[in-house]
Amino acid sequence: MEIVLSGIRPTGNLHLGNYFGALRNFVKMQHENQCYFFIADYHSLTTHPTPENLQGNVKQALVEYLAAGIDPEIATIYVQSDLPETAELYLLLNMNAYKGELERVTTFKEKAKKQPDNINAGLLTYPTLMAADILIHRAHKVPVGKDQEQHLEMTRTFARRFNRMYKTEFFPEPVAYNFGEELVKIPGLDGSGKMGKSEGEGNAIFLADDPKTIRKKVMRAVTDAGPTEMNAPKPDPIKNLFAIMQAVSSPDTVAYFDEKYNACEIRYGDMKKQLAEDVVAFTEPIREKILELSSDDAYIKKVMDMGKEKARASGGKTVSEIREIIGFRP
Ligand code: TYM
Repeated sequence: MEIVLSGIRPTGNLHLGNYFGALRNFVKMQHENQCYFFIADYHSLTTHPTPENLQGNVKQALVEYLAAGIDPEIATIYVQSDLPETAELYLLLNMNAYKGELERVTTFKEKAKKQPDNINAGLLTYPTLMAADILIHRAHKVPVGKDQEQHLEMTRTFARRFNRMYKTEFFPEPVAYNFGEELVKIPGLDGSGKMGKSEGEGNAIFLADDPKTIRKKVMRAVTDAGPTEMNAPKPDPIKNLFAIMQAVSSPDTVAYFDEKYNACEIRYGDMKKQLAEDVVAFTEPIREKILELSSDDAYIKKVMDMGKEKARASGGKTVSEIREIIGFRP
């Protein structure tokens, strides 16, 4: 049986990008594999949340993952800091992670530009912590979006380096996974880049958004004056709108608007109205589940405790084997 692992930082509500990039694939795989899903609260400390915010965000994240279809009886869903062995493995991997390679990571360079007065060591070593998350369960497959590809490559580098150094085949080399297809990148509504929680108001559609909010966001999405030539290539904002439609609407709907575009007959207002209704139809059952679970603290605690126990059984075993390989006192 293959081991599958994925995780998300608890830094705000879950959006369509998180869902189609990572969660949906994980949910599809949870029945056939040994699956771990975790809430990356150590990672979220790079942006210095308050204790109250951290706690609230972790709970909200858990609620949303459950609502989106993770079954805690089948998969192991846990909070990263409930498996402190992760921090030990992170320390050990850091001994063989080099400043040069860490500084070259795209996400580090982007973050450093975005928060120049807070380029902390956690930010620089983010990929080693992520490698620790994955290697601690010796995972084979990691369902993630396109933006995490480079981190997975680093994880393979660290795994190989450890194996070579200690002349072992202890760690498998994990791959980023989307059922043999290209990894997904869901664009935002502002015409550029990816959908993200820190990309500005109105750029992301959250699973917890109510229908009114969704309609408003979609109707405000950036478009242009429309094509003036038959079969013209689509500029980025229009490509983005189609990409979101491809995720939530039926293939017939996408084909219909595609034909309209190619014939220069498209009315973006109509397309957005349709898109908004399809997003609402898709998110509504998840939103209802979020509301229902949010008030059930006893259940949330039970799920967290259960996940903690299962994660520690697996992660604890890995770390004690690693200690032995490295040469610490058994
Ligand atoms: P995070 O919290 O930024 O995002 C969580 C997951 O959602 C995916 N994602 C997207 N996919 C497609 N289109 C988008 N617009 C989009 N936005 C986000 C991300 O690719 C990711 O899969 N470093 C990770 C969390 C993490 C992790 C791990 C993941 C820590 N350790 C170990 C997997 C394995 C992160 O910041 O994801």
